[in-house]
Amino acid sequence: MGLKVLPGPSMQQRTTLRLGGTATAEIVVGHVNDLDELPGALEKLGVPPLMLGKGSNLLARDGELPLALVRVPEPAKPEIVGFSGDRVTVRADAGMGLPAFLSWVASKGLAGMEGLSGIPGTIGGAVAMNAGSYGTDMSRVMRRVLLFSPCCGLRWADREDVLTGYRHFAPRTVDEWFLVMGVEVDLKEDSREAIKSRMAETMNTKRASQPLEAWSAGCVFKNPQANSAGRLLDEAGFRGRQLGGMAFSERHANFLVNTGGGTSADALALIAEAQSAVSRTHGIDLELEVKVIP
Ligand code: EPU
Repeated sequence: MGLKVLPGPSMQQRTTLRLGGTATAEIVVGHVNDLDELPGALEKLGVPPLMLGKGSNLLARDGELPLALVRVPEPAKPEIVGFSGDRVTVRADAGMGLPAFLSWVASKGLAGMEGLSGIPGTIGGAVAMNAGSYGTDMSRVMRRVLLFSPCCGLRWADREDVLTGYRHFAPRTVDEWFLVMGVEVDLKEDSREAIKSRMAETMNTKRASQPLEAWSAGCVFKNPQANSAGRLLDEAGFRGRQLGGMAFSERHANFLVNTGGGTSADALALIAEAQSAVSRTHGIDLELEVKVIP
């Protein structure tokens, strides 16, 4: 037991964009009880933490990156922890894959998250960035969140104690940093068939418009108010635009994909090119949705 500190983890092997340099260290948290050692371990390393799920929304820079990746404990199976009226509360550990969690709730006949089908990553990652699609997001079902922070240790934060928005999540009590360690969601009973068919429908729509198999981090820019970044990029001529090993997807212009051998330098140059083009053509400043690390 105790924390394991491993030197020099490769971001290329830990992100779905498959690019980026080497972080200072990777801290493997074997058990939640080990978390108390984490602030001390980080202080010793002298770098900030980066909670790592499946790395599916990260664009890591090239070279040596001064940060410590934090890997959460292996998840246990989700658990039904309460019933209230027609609501069923399910608890999950942060490290559980979101697709696996969605299959689990569907198999129990619990509805409310079907629109999230096809989002990769862990459920902790989905909470931490309020992942969403097709009119729903994590905050819609979230009941409370298990957080760890240096000030307050491990504690459950109720729905009212966290701020959520479009791809945004933050505890109201601000601290140096926090980790999402678990979540409880409120779902509703429905027939397994109906849930599975809504999930399949979401997947089909996504497959038709998004390059789900490509090395990407999903949508690279946020949608501006009442507009679509994909459409703006498309109109500005960026669908399929390539630089080195990076390209805006032919299928969806807001997906930046690594076609092989792409670097973060290529990615950031393409991003800057696209931002200035859309600003010129439409007078709109596109904001990044992926997190550039560090
Ligand atoms: N469009 C184009 N050209 C393109 C891409 C899209 O003209 O190359 C048009 C589409 O035809 C459509 C409109 O733009 O009329 C919107 O496109 P789409 O339905 O694909 O959705 P989106 O707004 O581009 C958002 C989320 C996705 C999420 C989908 C489905 C953001 C930035 N994107 O995309 O989320 O999967 O809706 O709900 O919020 C992500 O967060 O990584 C992500 C991919």
